[in-house]
Amino acid sequence: MEQHNEKWGSRWGFLLATAGSAIGLGNIWKFPYITGNNGGAAFVCVYLLAILFVGLPLMIAELSLGRATACHPAWAFDKFTKGQKTPLAGFVGTLIIISGLLMVFFRCPGHAILLLTLGIFLCLKGWKTVGVITGVLAPFIIISYYGVIGGWTIIYVFKSFAGELNFADPAQGKLIFEPILNAEKSTWGILLSAHFAFVAAAAVVVFFGVQNGIEKSSKVLMPMLFILLGALVLRGISLPGASKGLKFFLSPDFSALRPESVLIAMGQAFFTLSLAMGITTTYGSYLKRDVNIVQSALTIIGLDTLAAVMAGIAVFSSVFAMGFDPAQGPGLVYMIVPSAFNKVPGNLGWLWNGLFFIMLTIAALTSLISLLEPLVNFAVRQFKISRHLAVILFSLVIYLFGLLSAFSCANWKNLPWLEKLIKDFFKDAGPSFFELSDSFASNWMLPLGGLAIAIFAGWIWGTKRVIKEVRRGTRSGLLDANILVLLTGLDPRDYARKSLFSPAVFWAVSIRWITPVLVVFAFLYCIGVI
Ligand code: PFF
Repeated sequence: MEQHNEKWGSRWGFLLATAGSAIGLGNIWKFPYITGNNGGAAFVCVYLLAILFVGLPLMIAELSLGRATACHPAWAFDKFTKGQKTPLAGFVGTLIIISGLLMVFFRCPGHAILLLTLGIFLCLKGWKTVGVITGVLAPFIIISYYGVIGGWTIIYVFKSFAGELNFADPAQGKLIFEPILNAEKSTWGILLSAHFAFVAAAAVVVFFGVQNGIEKSSKVLMPMLFILLGALVLRGISLPGASKGLKFFLSPDFSALRPESVLIAMGQAFFTLSLAMGITTTYGSYLKRDVNIVQSALTIIGLDTLAAVMAGIAVFSSVFAMGFDPAQGPGLVYMIVPSAFNKVPGNLGWLWNGLFFIMLTIAALTSLISLLEPLVNFAVRQFKISRHLAVILFSLVIYLFGLLSAFSCANWKNLPWLEKLIKDFFKDAGPSFFELSDSFASNWMLPLGGLAIAIFAGWIWGTKRVIKEVRRGTRSGLLDANILVLLTGLDPRDYARKSLFSPAVFWAVSIRWITPVLVVFAFLYCIGVI
């Protein structure tokens, strides 16, 4: 039986758990930097548009698909297409098989195997293939390297409180961070244990199930995350010179807004909202019928954006006030931010760093939990095993697979055999296994998965049926009221007639036409075609 009857205990439990999935490293080490570099508040406007036309429609589609079927994505797509002819899947599958055969001709065995497998699955299994890729393969790959970064944050929490991060210059920070990044022999012990501890922490939560594990932990962890972020924001903005950071982060500069900014905003909207990874559909499958999906999606998006903006203010006010230049990714978080906090007057660098890394650990942990849950849900139904056994088995496999990323984060030095193997099969192995996994998941699987979900919701399952599902739990009339009436706060029932400018019509137009086109552009940008 693919359908499950686990359900969230409360609406807030669901909202906090889903926001916990959305708020992660992407909010803290990416959003602030790309915002600063792409015109500050001007970029935030573009980002909000990307959320409106890509993030929101897809989130509504995924939540509805989950709730309507009460299934993991591996069966959810299938539910509406089983026994039916799926000409689109067959057509795309055949095209992919032909490209796979061409790859054989061009002697690219790796690409040929991947394409032929995908094409054959699409032809034989139709939409189920999309469910398995988005709900099993994508989370599996992402979790493997996300867990490694989670391990680093734990190491940095301990280092902060042990006073080992007392450097005031990123160059000194590099001396601590680079051995970890390069997995030098001296760091193996700590690297392996921290990575293990992080995966184990997520496993313990998922072990206790949806209500007792994920929901209960989110109700504690998410408020903690916002309290810590709030404290860091207050610390940052009260520093003399903080306004330079706020200016970099938020002052609108339309000249810094480039055409790519739009595509960057879309990629970020995708990753940050944890879309097309099976998570939102799985979390949606635990929803009760009376929950308002549109309102929930807006709340989750609001919390995610709030966390990103708070992180930007906390990070850049301190970094600029202390006279550093910003960067993005691990460099910002593990070298520049600690240097800045150490220079803050009062000699409490260890405390600010400790709080910052606890906050980062919470953000990464709730995201990791959300990546593990769809895998466990899948294993329970597919292999007919208990949740407990599924958690233990999957966590171990994920941990072991993640070791490849832990040992090959920045380069291939530790894994020359794997580099050779991948090069033999794919001609190019990229800079490291970590980067390879990230680019495969973020640049290929997510946008293509998102495209498939938009097409499925808009054309296959169909806008009519999705809206019917969304209507359950939505106050009657709200979905069909004129958007202008809704914005004014007037009672939509006084303006009863269904309107052409209603949220329902806006969603349907987006998911059918706007979202797929935008996602294709974002995808072409991700893979370097435009
Ligand atoms: N959305 C999270 C972030 O912005 O960091 C991360 C994330 C969670 C990415 C879950 C992918 C994922 F499947």
